Amino acid sequence: MRAPDLTADVATVLIPADQLQAKVAELGVTLSRDYAGRELTLVSVLKGALPFMADLMRAISIPVQIDLMEVSSYGGTATETSGLVRILKDLSSSIDGRDVVIVEDIIDTGLTLNYLLRYLRGKNPRTLRICALLDKPARRLVEIEIDYRGFTIPDQFVVGYGLDYGEFYRNLPFIGVLKPEVYGSE
Ligand code: IMP
Ligand code: MG
Repeated sequence: MRAPDLTADVATVLIPADQLQAKVAELGVTLSRDYAGRELTLVSVLKGALPFMADLMRAISIPVQIDLMEVSSYGGTATETSGLVRILKDLSSSIDGRDVVIVEDIIDTGLTLNYLLRYLRGKNPRTLRICALLDKPARRLVEIEIDYRGFTIPDQFVVGYGLDYGEFYRNLPFIGVLKPEVYGSE
């Protein structure tokens, strides 16, 4: 992969920063209403969901606990998931009896989340729902019910606001698409 250039490599901005912030605020209001009086735990999946989690938790006005997991998929390439998931970092606290919302950056094939759902269900939460910033339904391989969705996007590989290509571009404040020649050098 050639050296990334955060400005020059971006072909189009799909979702500008202000639209991301507005949507996150809206999701925060909805979650605060739906989970009022409940024992809400947000479980975010590193590293892609980090900015989303950080903004979403601050948009929530009810008491909330957070936990972090990190997963990676075996094999795969910079733009394709293999579906074989490995847990790099597990939960640090019990979610037994808690109302859990998984906070994800993007649902693409759905394989990662499908694995996580089965894993977390085994930890006996009272309820388990999904909040995904981006939904890319065109590439779905397993059916996933998304309870809280930010944006539905077309079948394009996107970067920014936590999402990476070759571990870079996560710090862009918007969701964008890179120029074809950038992806081409995989
Ligand atoms: P899935 O298992 O195919 O649903 O994808 C899971 C993970 O692949 C996401 O959490 C992302 O980390 C990554 N991913 C999928 N699509 C994209 C994309 O368009 N840009 C960057 N990462 C992506
Ligand atoms: Mg992710």
